[in-house]
Formats: sequence, structure tokens, C-alpha cells
Amino acid sequence: MNKISIDNSKALPFLPAGAMEGMQTAVEAAHETLMSGSGKGCDFLGWLRLPSSTENRFLSEIQENAMELSRIAEVLVVVGIGGSYLGARAVTEALQHPFSQLQKKRDHPVILYAGNNLSEDYHAELLDVLSECSWAMVVISKSGTTTEPAVAFRLLKEQLEKQYGREEARKRIVAITDAFHGALRQMAEKEGYLTFVIPDDVGGRFSVLTPVGLFPVAFAGFDIHDLLDGARDMQEICLRTPDFTKNPAAVYAATRNLLYQAGRKTEIMVTWQPHLVFLSEWWKQLYGESEGKEGKGIFPASVSFTTDLHSLGQYIQEGTPNHFETVLNVKRPQRVLQIPPDPVDGDGLNYIAGRRLSEVNSNAQLGTLLAHVEGGVPNIRINMPAVNEFHLGQLIYFYEYACAVSGYVLGVNPFDQPGVEAYKRNMFALLGKPGYEQQGKKLRGELPGQKG
Ligand code: PA5
Repeated sequence: MNKISIDNSKALPFLPAGAMEGMQTAVEAAHETLMSGSGKGCDFLGWLRLPSSTENRFLSEIQENAMELSRIAEVLVVVGIGGSYLGARAVTEALQHPFSQLQKKRDHPVILYAGNNLSEDYHAELLDVLSECSWAMVVISKSGTTTEPAVAFRLLKEQLEKQYGREEARKRIVAITDAFHGALRQMAEKEGYLTFVIPDDVGGRFSVLTPVGLFPVAFAGFDIHDLLDGARDMQEICLRTPDFTKNPAAVYAATRNLLYQAGRKTEIMVTWQPHLVFLSEWWKQLYGESEGKEGKGIFPASVSFTTDLHSLGQYIQEGTPNHFETVLNVKRPQRVLQIPPDPVDGDGLNYIAGRRLSEVNSNAQLGTLLAHVEGGVPNIRINMPAVNEFHLGQLIYFYEYACAVSGYVLGVNPFDQPGVEAYKRNMFALLGKPGYEQQGKKLRGELPGQKG
């Protein structure tokens, strides 16, 4: 089967009989709210029909500009945080050779990331490396005012200008931001950078299928037409009907909400390929920021197996039973690797000699599924035929639609993130940003070690 599918048969035994049937009505209502644009946060529904409304002509324009930049730069630094970098990283890392930086003859250019933290060491070390290579950067910020990418952009721009001179540096910077507002827009206009727009009605964490994700993915050498084709396919499936027999994303939204109502407050996204770790990171932001509010919401966590079976596996099997697992099951690996026979068989592995590593991985997966379910952990399986652009596009839309429906079923606004502002206000006050003086004075008195 060439589609994303879902299997909740190992979650249903943990739910009351008839629970799914009961949830169909709530999911239908959430779907209708979404389709009619009448729910909370309805100003941010641009992602809903983004795949079908994105013209191939526009994709080609992005692809051509990215290719042109890759002809003058071997490395692209993606400057952004949260929704302004996680989607690009999720797709790129899922598709690229994990050791490409060491390949003598690279198939694809290198993508590095900045502005997703405030570590001095990280950025200083990045600047060390960049000073020795041919590079360009894409700076991504919807608001155009987020501190982390703004600081990184300032540091990187200085280095780029030192390396290439101001004129040439301008040609090596692409800005992706709001059409009119924000400091980045003003700077881009003044300096004449190539720019792409983040649509007003698409929030950061839903923006991977806009230039935010598409430009870096195209630079990395992957096919953004195929990515969008996959998303279009899933858009059609999801928007046609919320009927559980026809819409796997609706089943996912319903099952996870029912598990939450049954006391399962943590969802653990499980991947079985190291390439997919950043897909989980993207998913965590999407669901964490969309649902975690008003004292409610599932806590999104992730593990990469088998690695984490040797660390968190014990807790998942026997710890506090308040979690469930959602396994992303990739059906077909891209490569073939057989375990070689050994005449001595000192390690006792000849019983699997001649078999593919993916067969061992699949059996580890099945063994883990049975053990965890036996240990009382409900399990949802999302089946993905293969990791390629088309299926990643399907998966992205699947998760976005399910997230919006889940949020409406939960009764929250899935498209805002008021809680993200609290740390920013405190950081500005402590750093002495003009306008925050009073708050700064108050906070300094509350810092650890200031009292008693
Ligand atoms: O999902 C969101 O809206 C956030 O995670 C933002 O993407 C993140 O805070 C970065 O914001 P900006 O793109 O405005 O720099």
C-alpha cells in the first residue's frame, strides 16, 4: 500500500468498549469547525489548503533560487528557531546521507543550523568552521524579531561580510519573513536580499510546506515538488471526510484523545531510524505548542529505538503507567545490508547470517511492541511505506491535520502559543532591554541566592 496508514488495535484494549464510536461525533465536530473556519485561532488556517493552493510554478522558483545559491556555496546555514527551523531539519535529515559531511564526493550540499540556541561555544565553533568553507545563509523568522536568530544573524552576517565583502555577502543571504513587518523585513529591503514570504495565516509550527521548509530542503538537493505532491494527496484524504474508515489522521486524533482521557498524559513518539530523530523534534513542537495550554494537553516525548531501549526502555516497560507509544513504522528501507556469515561464529550470530539488518530491526520492533503492550503501554502504529519526499509530505500533512483536530477535541486553541512569551519577557528584563527596567529590578530580587 502506497499510503500512510494507522493501526490502533493495540491501543483499543486500554479503552472502554465503544469508545471510538463515541469519539466519532467529537472528531466530526472538530473537522467541521476546521473546514468552516469558525473555531479558535481561525486566522491561522492557511496551512489547511496550502498543499493544493501552492502552485508548481512557485515551487520551481524556490528550487531554481536554491540551486543557484548552491552553485556558489557548499554549505547553507539555516538561521531560525522553533517552527522556523525544525521542519526544514526534519525533512532534510530524514532524506540526507547521515555521514555526508565526511563523504569525499558528496551528493548533496551541507546544511548547518544556527540561532536555535544561545550557546556561545556553539556559535563560536560554527564561525570557526565557516571561516574555512564556501557558505551562504538563509535567515528565517516570521516575526523578524526573535532574539536567538537575530543574535546569530548579526554574528554570521559580520563573518560573511568579512569573508566576502559586503556586496558579495548580500548575494549569499536569503531572508524568509513576513511580507511587511518586523526588523528582518526592513533589513532585507534595505540590503536587497533575496526574500520569500511566510504567509500571514500560517503559524510557525505549521510552516514547513511554505518557503520556511521548502527553501532549505531544495538547497539540500531534494525534490520539493514530490514533497508537495505527497501533502496534496494527504490533504485530499483528510479534508474529504472525518470518517474513521477513510481518514487515518482522524483515527490518530481520536485514539490519542481517548488515551488522554483514560489517564495517559504522555505520548512517546517512537522512531526506529536515527534519520528520523528530527521528525520527532518537529512533531514535539507541533503538538506541544498546539495542545499544552489551559492546564491541559498530552506531553509529547520521543525516543529513538533501539538506542533508547537501553536507557528509557526500562521506564517505558515498568515505570509509572501514564504514557502511551506512537510508533512510526517505516516499511521499506532505502539500502540493503546483509549480515555476513562467520566460519568461527564466535559471537553466535550465524543464526541470522544472510538476513538483512532491516529484518533484525523489524523483529526488534515487533518484540518491543509485544513486550510494551504486555507491560500495560497502549500502542498506536503509524505505517509509512518508505522515507522519501512523497511520503514525508503525506506524513507532515497527516500530523498537522490530526494536531488541529486533536486540539479542537481537547477544547483549546491549537494555533496560539501565549506561554512562549513568559521566558522572553524575563530574559529582556534581566538583560536590561529598554522598557523592561522595572520588571528587571523585581526579577533580580527573586533570583536564586538573592534572598535570605
Ligand atoms: O510555532 C511558532 O510559532 C514558534 O515556535 C515560532 O516558530 C518560533 O518562536 C520562531 O518565531 P519566529 O519565526 O517569529 O522567529
